[in-house]
Amino acid sequence: MQIEARASGQSAAGTPPPAPVDQAVALVVAAGSGERLGANRPKAFVPLGGRPMLEWSLDALRAAGVRHVVVALPPGHEPPAGCRRAPGGATRSESVRNALAAAAPGAEVVIVHDAARPLVTPGHFVAAVRALADAEAAIAAAPMTDTVKEAGPDRLVAGTLDRSRLWAVQTPQVFRRAALERALDVSAEVLAQATDDAWLVERTGGRVRVVESDATNLKVTTPHDLRVAEFLLRERG
Ligand code: CTP
Ligand code: MG
Repeated sequence: MQIEARASGQSAAGTPPPAPVDQAVALVVAAGSGERLGANRPKAFVPLGGRPMLEWSLDALRAAGVRHVVVALPPGHEPPAGCRRAPGGATRSESVRNALAAAAPGAEVVIVHDAARPLVTPGHFVAAVRALADAEAAIAAAPMTDTVKEAGPDRLVAGTLDRSRLWAVQTPQVFRRAALERALDVSAEVLAQATDDAWLVERTGGRVRVVESDATNLKVTTPHDLRVAEFLLRERG
């Protein structure tokens, strides 16, 4: 599918245009244990289509033209060829912070991606970088297809959200480096609360733009997701 950058194309006054993709640095977080998948090794190294899951994301980054890649890894794992290593943190956001600290200075655009999303395409990365034109962050997200309701601990429904305004958020998430550095400069407690990096930018008042993606850019969490990913990769050929 074509991924369309829904950027306006107009830079806000004083906002420099984003650097092209080949000058961005990518931080791939691969340091999770994969508890819910329950394999015999960390999730990023579980075989998918005959190779470690992580390799699919690295291929897509290379095909998009990204040359600088830092991978946050679990202890005892060597970085893939051509990538820099960063130590994984206790939480996902700490892994992102460690990877950013290991990134070469100079790259002003930072792409954050989960190794757990192996179906990402070069188009996802390119579209997100383009959408930074008038924002501090641009994030891949799919329009919600389920109706979402709020309920209390008593399971009584308190309200129904307006689905036309809801997005299921994915990675890649792309940032202007200074905005991400500022956003990550918080306590371990705040970092642990973050379920995505864009939230950290939102809480510092940064503009975050949604870039329309699709549900095939799924996150492998459970054994069922792994089977679906195998199927989709085989279908893609
Ligand atoms: N991740 C990481 N460092 C951590 C936790 C997670 O780099 N301390 C990475 C994972 O490797 C994954 C991504 O963040 O690519 C999304 O996390 P998730 O899907 O939750 O993966 P895991 O934490 O490995 O899985 P689980 O929560 O089931 O243990
Ligand atoms: Mg996790």
